[in-house]
Amino acid sequence: MNNNMNQFCRVNWPKGLKSFKSKSIRLSQEVVSYLKEDGILLNDVWKRPPLQDNGTKRFPELEQLVNEILDDFESVFIKLNWRAPLDCQNTFQDMCFQDLYDIMMALKYSGVIMEMIEDYDEQVIDQNHPEKCQLVAQPSQGYLLELKKYYKLRPNAEFRCFVKNKKLIGISQKNLYLITEDESVKDKIQNYFNKIVDLIEIDNYVLDVYIDIPPKENIILVDLNPWQEHTRPKLFTYEELDIFQECQLRLVKNKDMIVQEDYSGYRESVDIETLIQQQQQEKQQLQQQ
Ligand SMILES: Nc1ncnc2c1ncn2[C@@H]1O[C@H](COP(=O)(O)OP(=O)(O)O)[C@@H](O)[C@H]1O
Ligand SMILES: [Mg+2]
Repeated sequence: MNNNMNQFCRVNWPKGLKSFKSKSIRLSQEVVSYLKEDGILLNDVWKRPPLQDNGTKRFPELEQLVNEILDDFESVFIKLNWRAPLDCQNTFQDMCFQDLYDIMMALKYSGVIMEMIEDYDEQVIDQNHPEKCQLVAQPSQGYLLELKKYYKLRPNAEFRCFVKNKKLIGISQKNLYLITEDESVKDKIQNYFNKIVDLIEIDNYVLDVYIDIPPKENIILVDLNPWQEHTRPKLFTYEELDIFQECQLRLVKNKDMIVQEDYSGYRESVDIETLIQQQQQEKQQLQQQ
């Protein structure tokens, strides 16, 4: 990793940068160990998931913090540090979470999250995990579970913006499975960028933005990402982006340009979806008892 990744955790974002409502919980040593326990390669664990020990009963103080946030937000989109468990999005419908059980399942069985934890563990020698889970609002280190208020986003209104030497040099449609035609987004996004650029001290980075419904069409920041690393270049390549001088907009304009992106690269041989579905059925049965 070339970037200081901590700066991409929401609580460490530059002050004044507005985005969706969100709260972050610094995870205790116990929870971090639970997430790491019996790594993703141990198929046995996946075959016999410990249902009663699913992380909710085991971590009452985390459950209380999460429930308080859920009382306010109703449902949430989750991230651990700078990554969301997007490889679980087929299993957890739309990545919309309403209880700690599903949150723990998604975190524990996501290959994306596992990879992030492995990389982060290598980087941070002194982990210094707190004894208890705690809500954090100030810049922090460690494992931070971010709960973002869930919003139903229109997929054609999301754009990824590439910033090099503090200059906006590329805007790509974010979801590449649909056709989009509106080129007017370029000026709107440039205007928004001009307003926030001075808040961000990093030279090269990638912003994900969302254009709110007409007529207002406010631009809302969705995410602040590192340049390269895991941040996909969408309709560009990083080689191209390295040489651009002026801002370019790229959209999926016709059927031939459609790309079906997936996270299958993260899946191990075990079928995680089937497993989690089984678990959810068991969970429902338990609840009915
Ligand atoms: N608060 C939210 N509510 C609903 N969907 C969201 C929310 N935040 C993000 N998303 C969706 O998830 C995608 C990835 O979110 P993001 O925070 O960028 O995670 P990552 O950095 O791991 O890609 C976004 O492009 C958006 O479609
Ligand atoms: Mg991101």
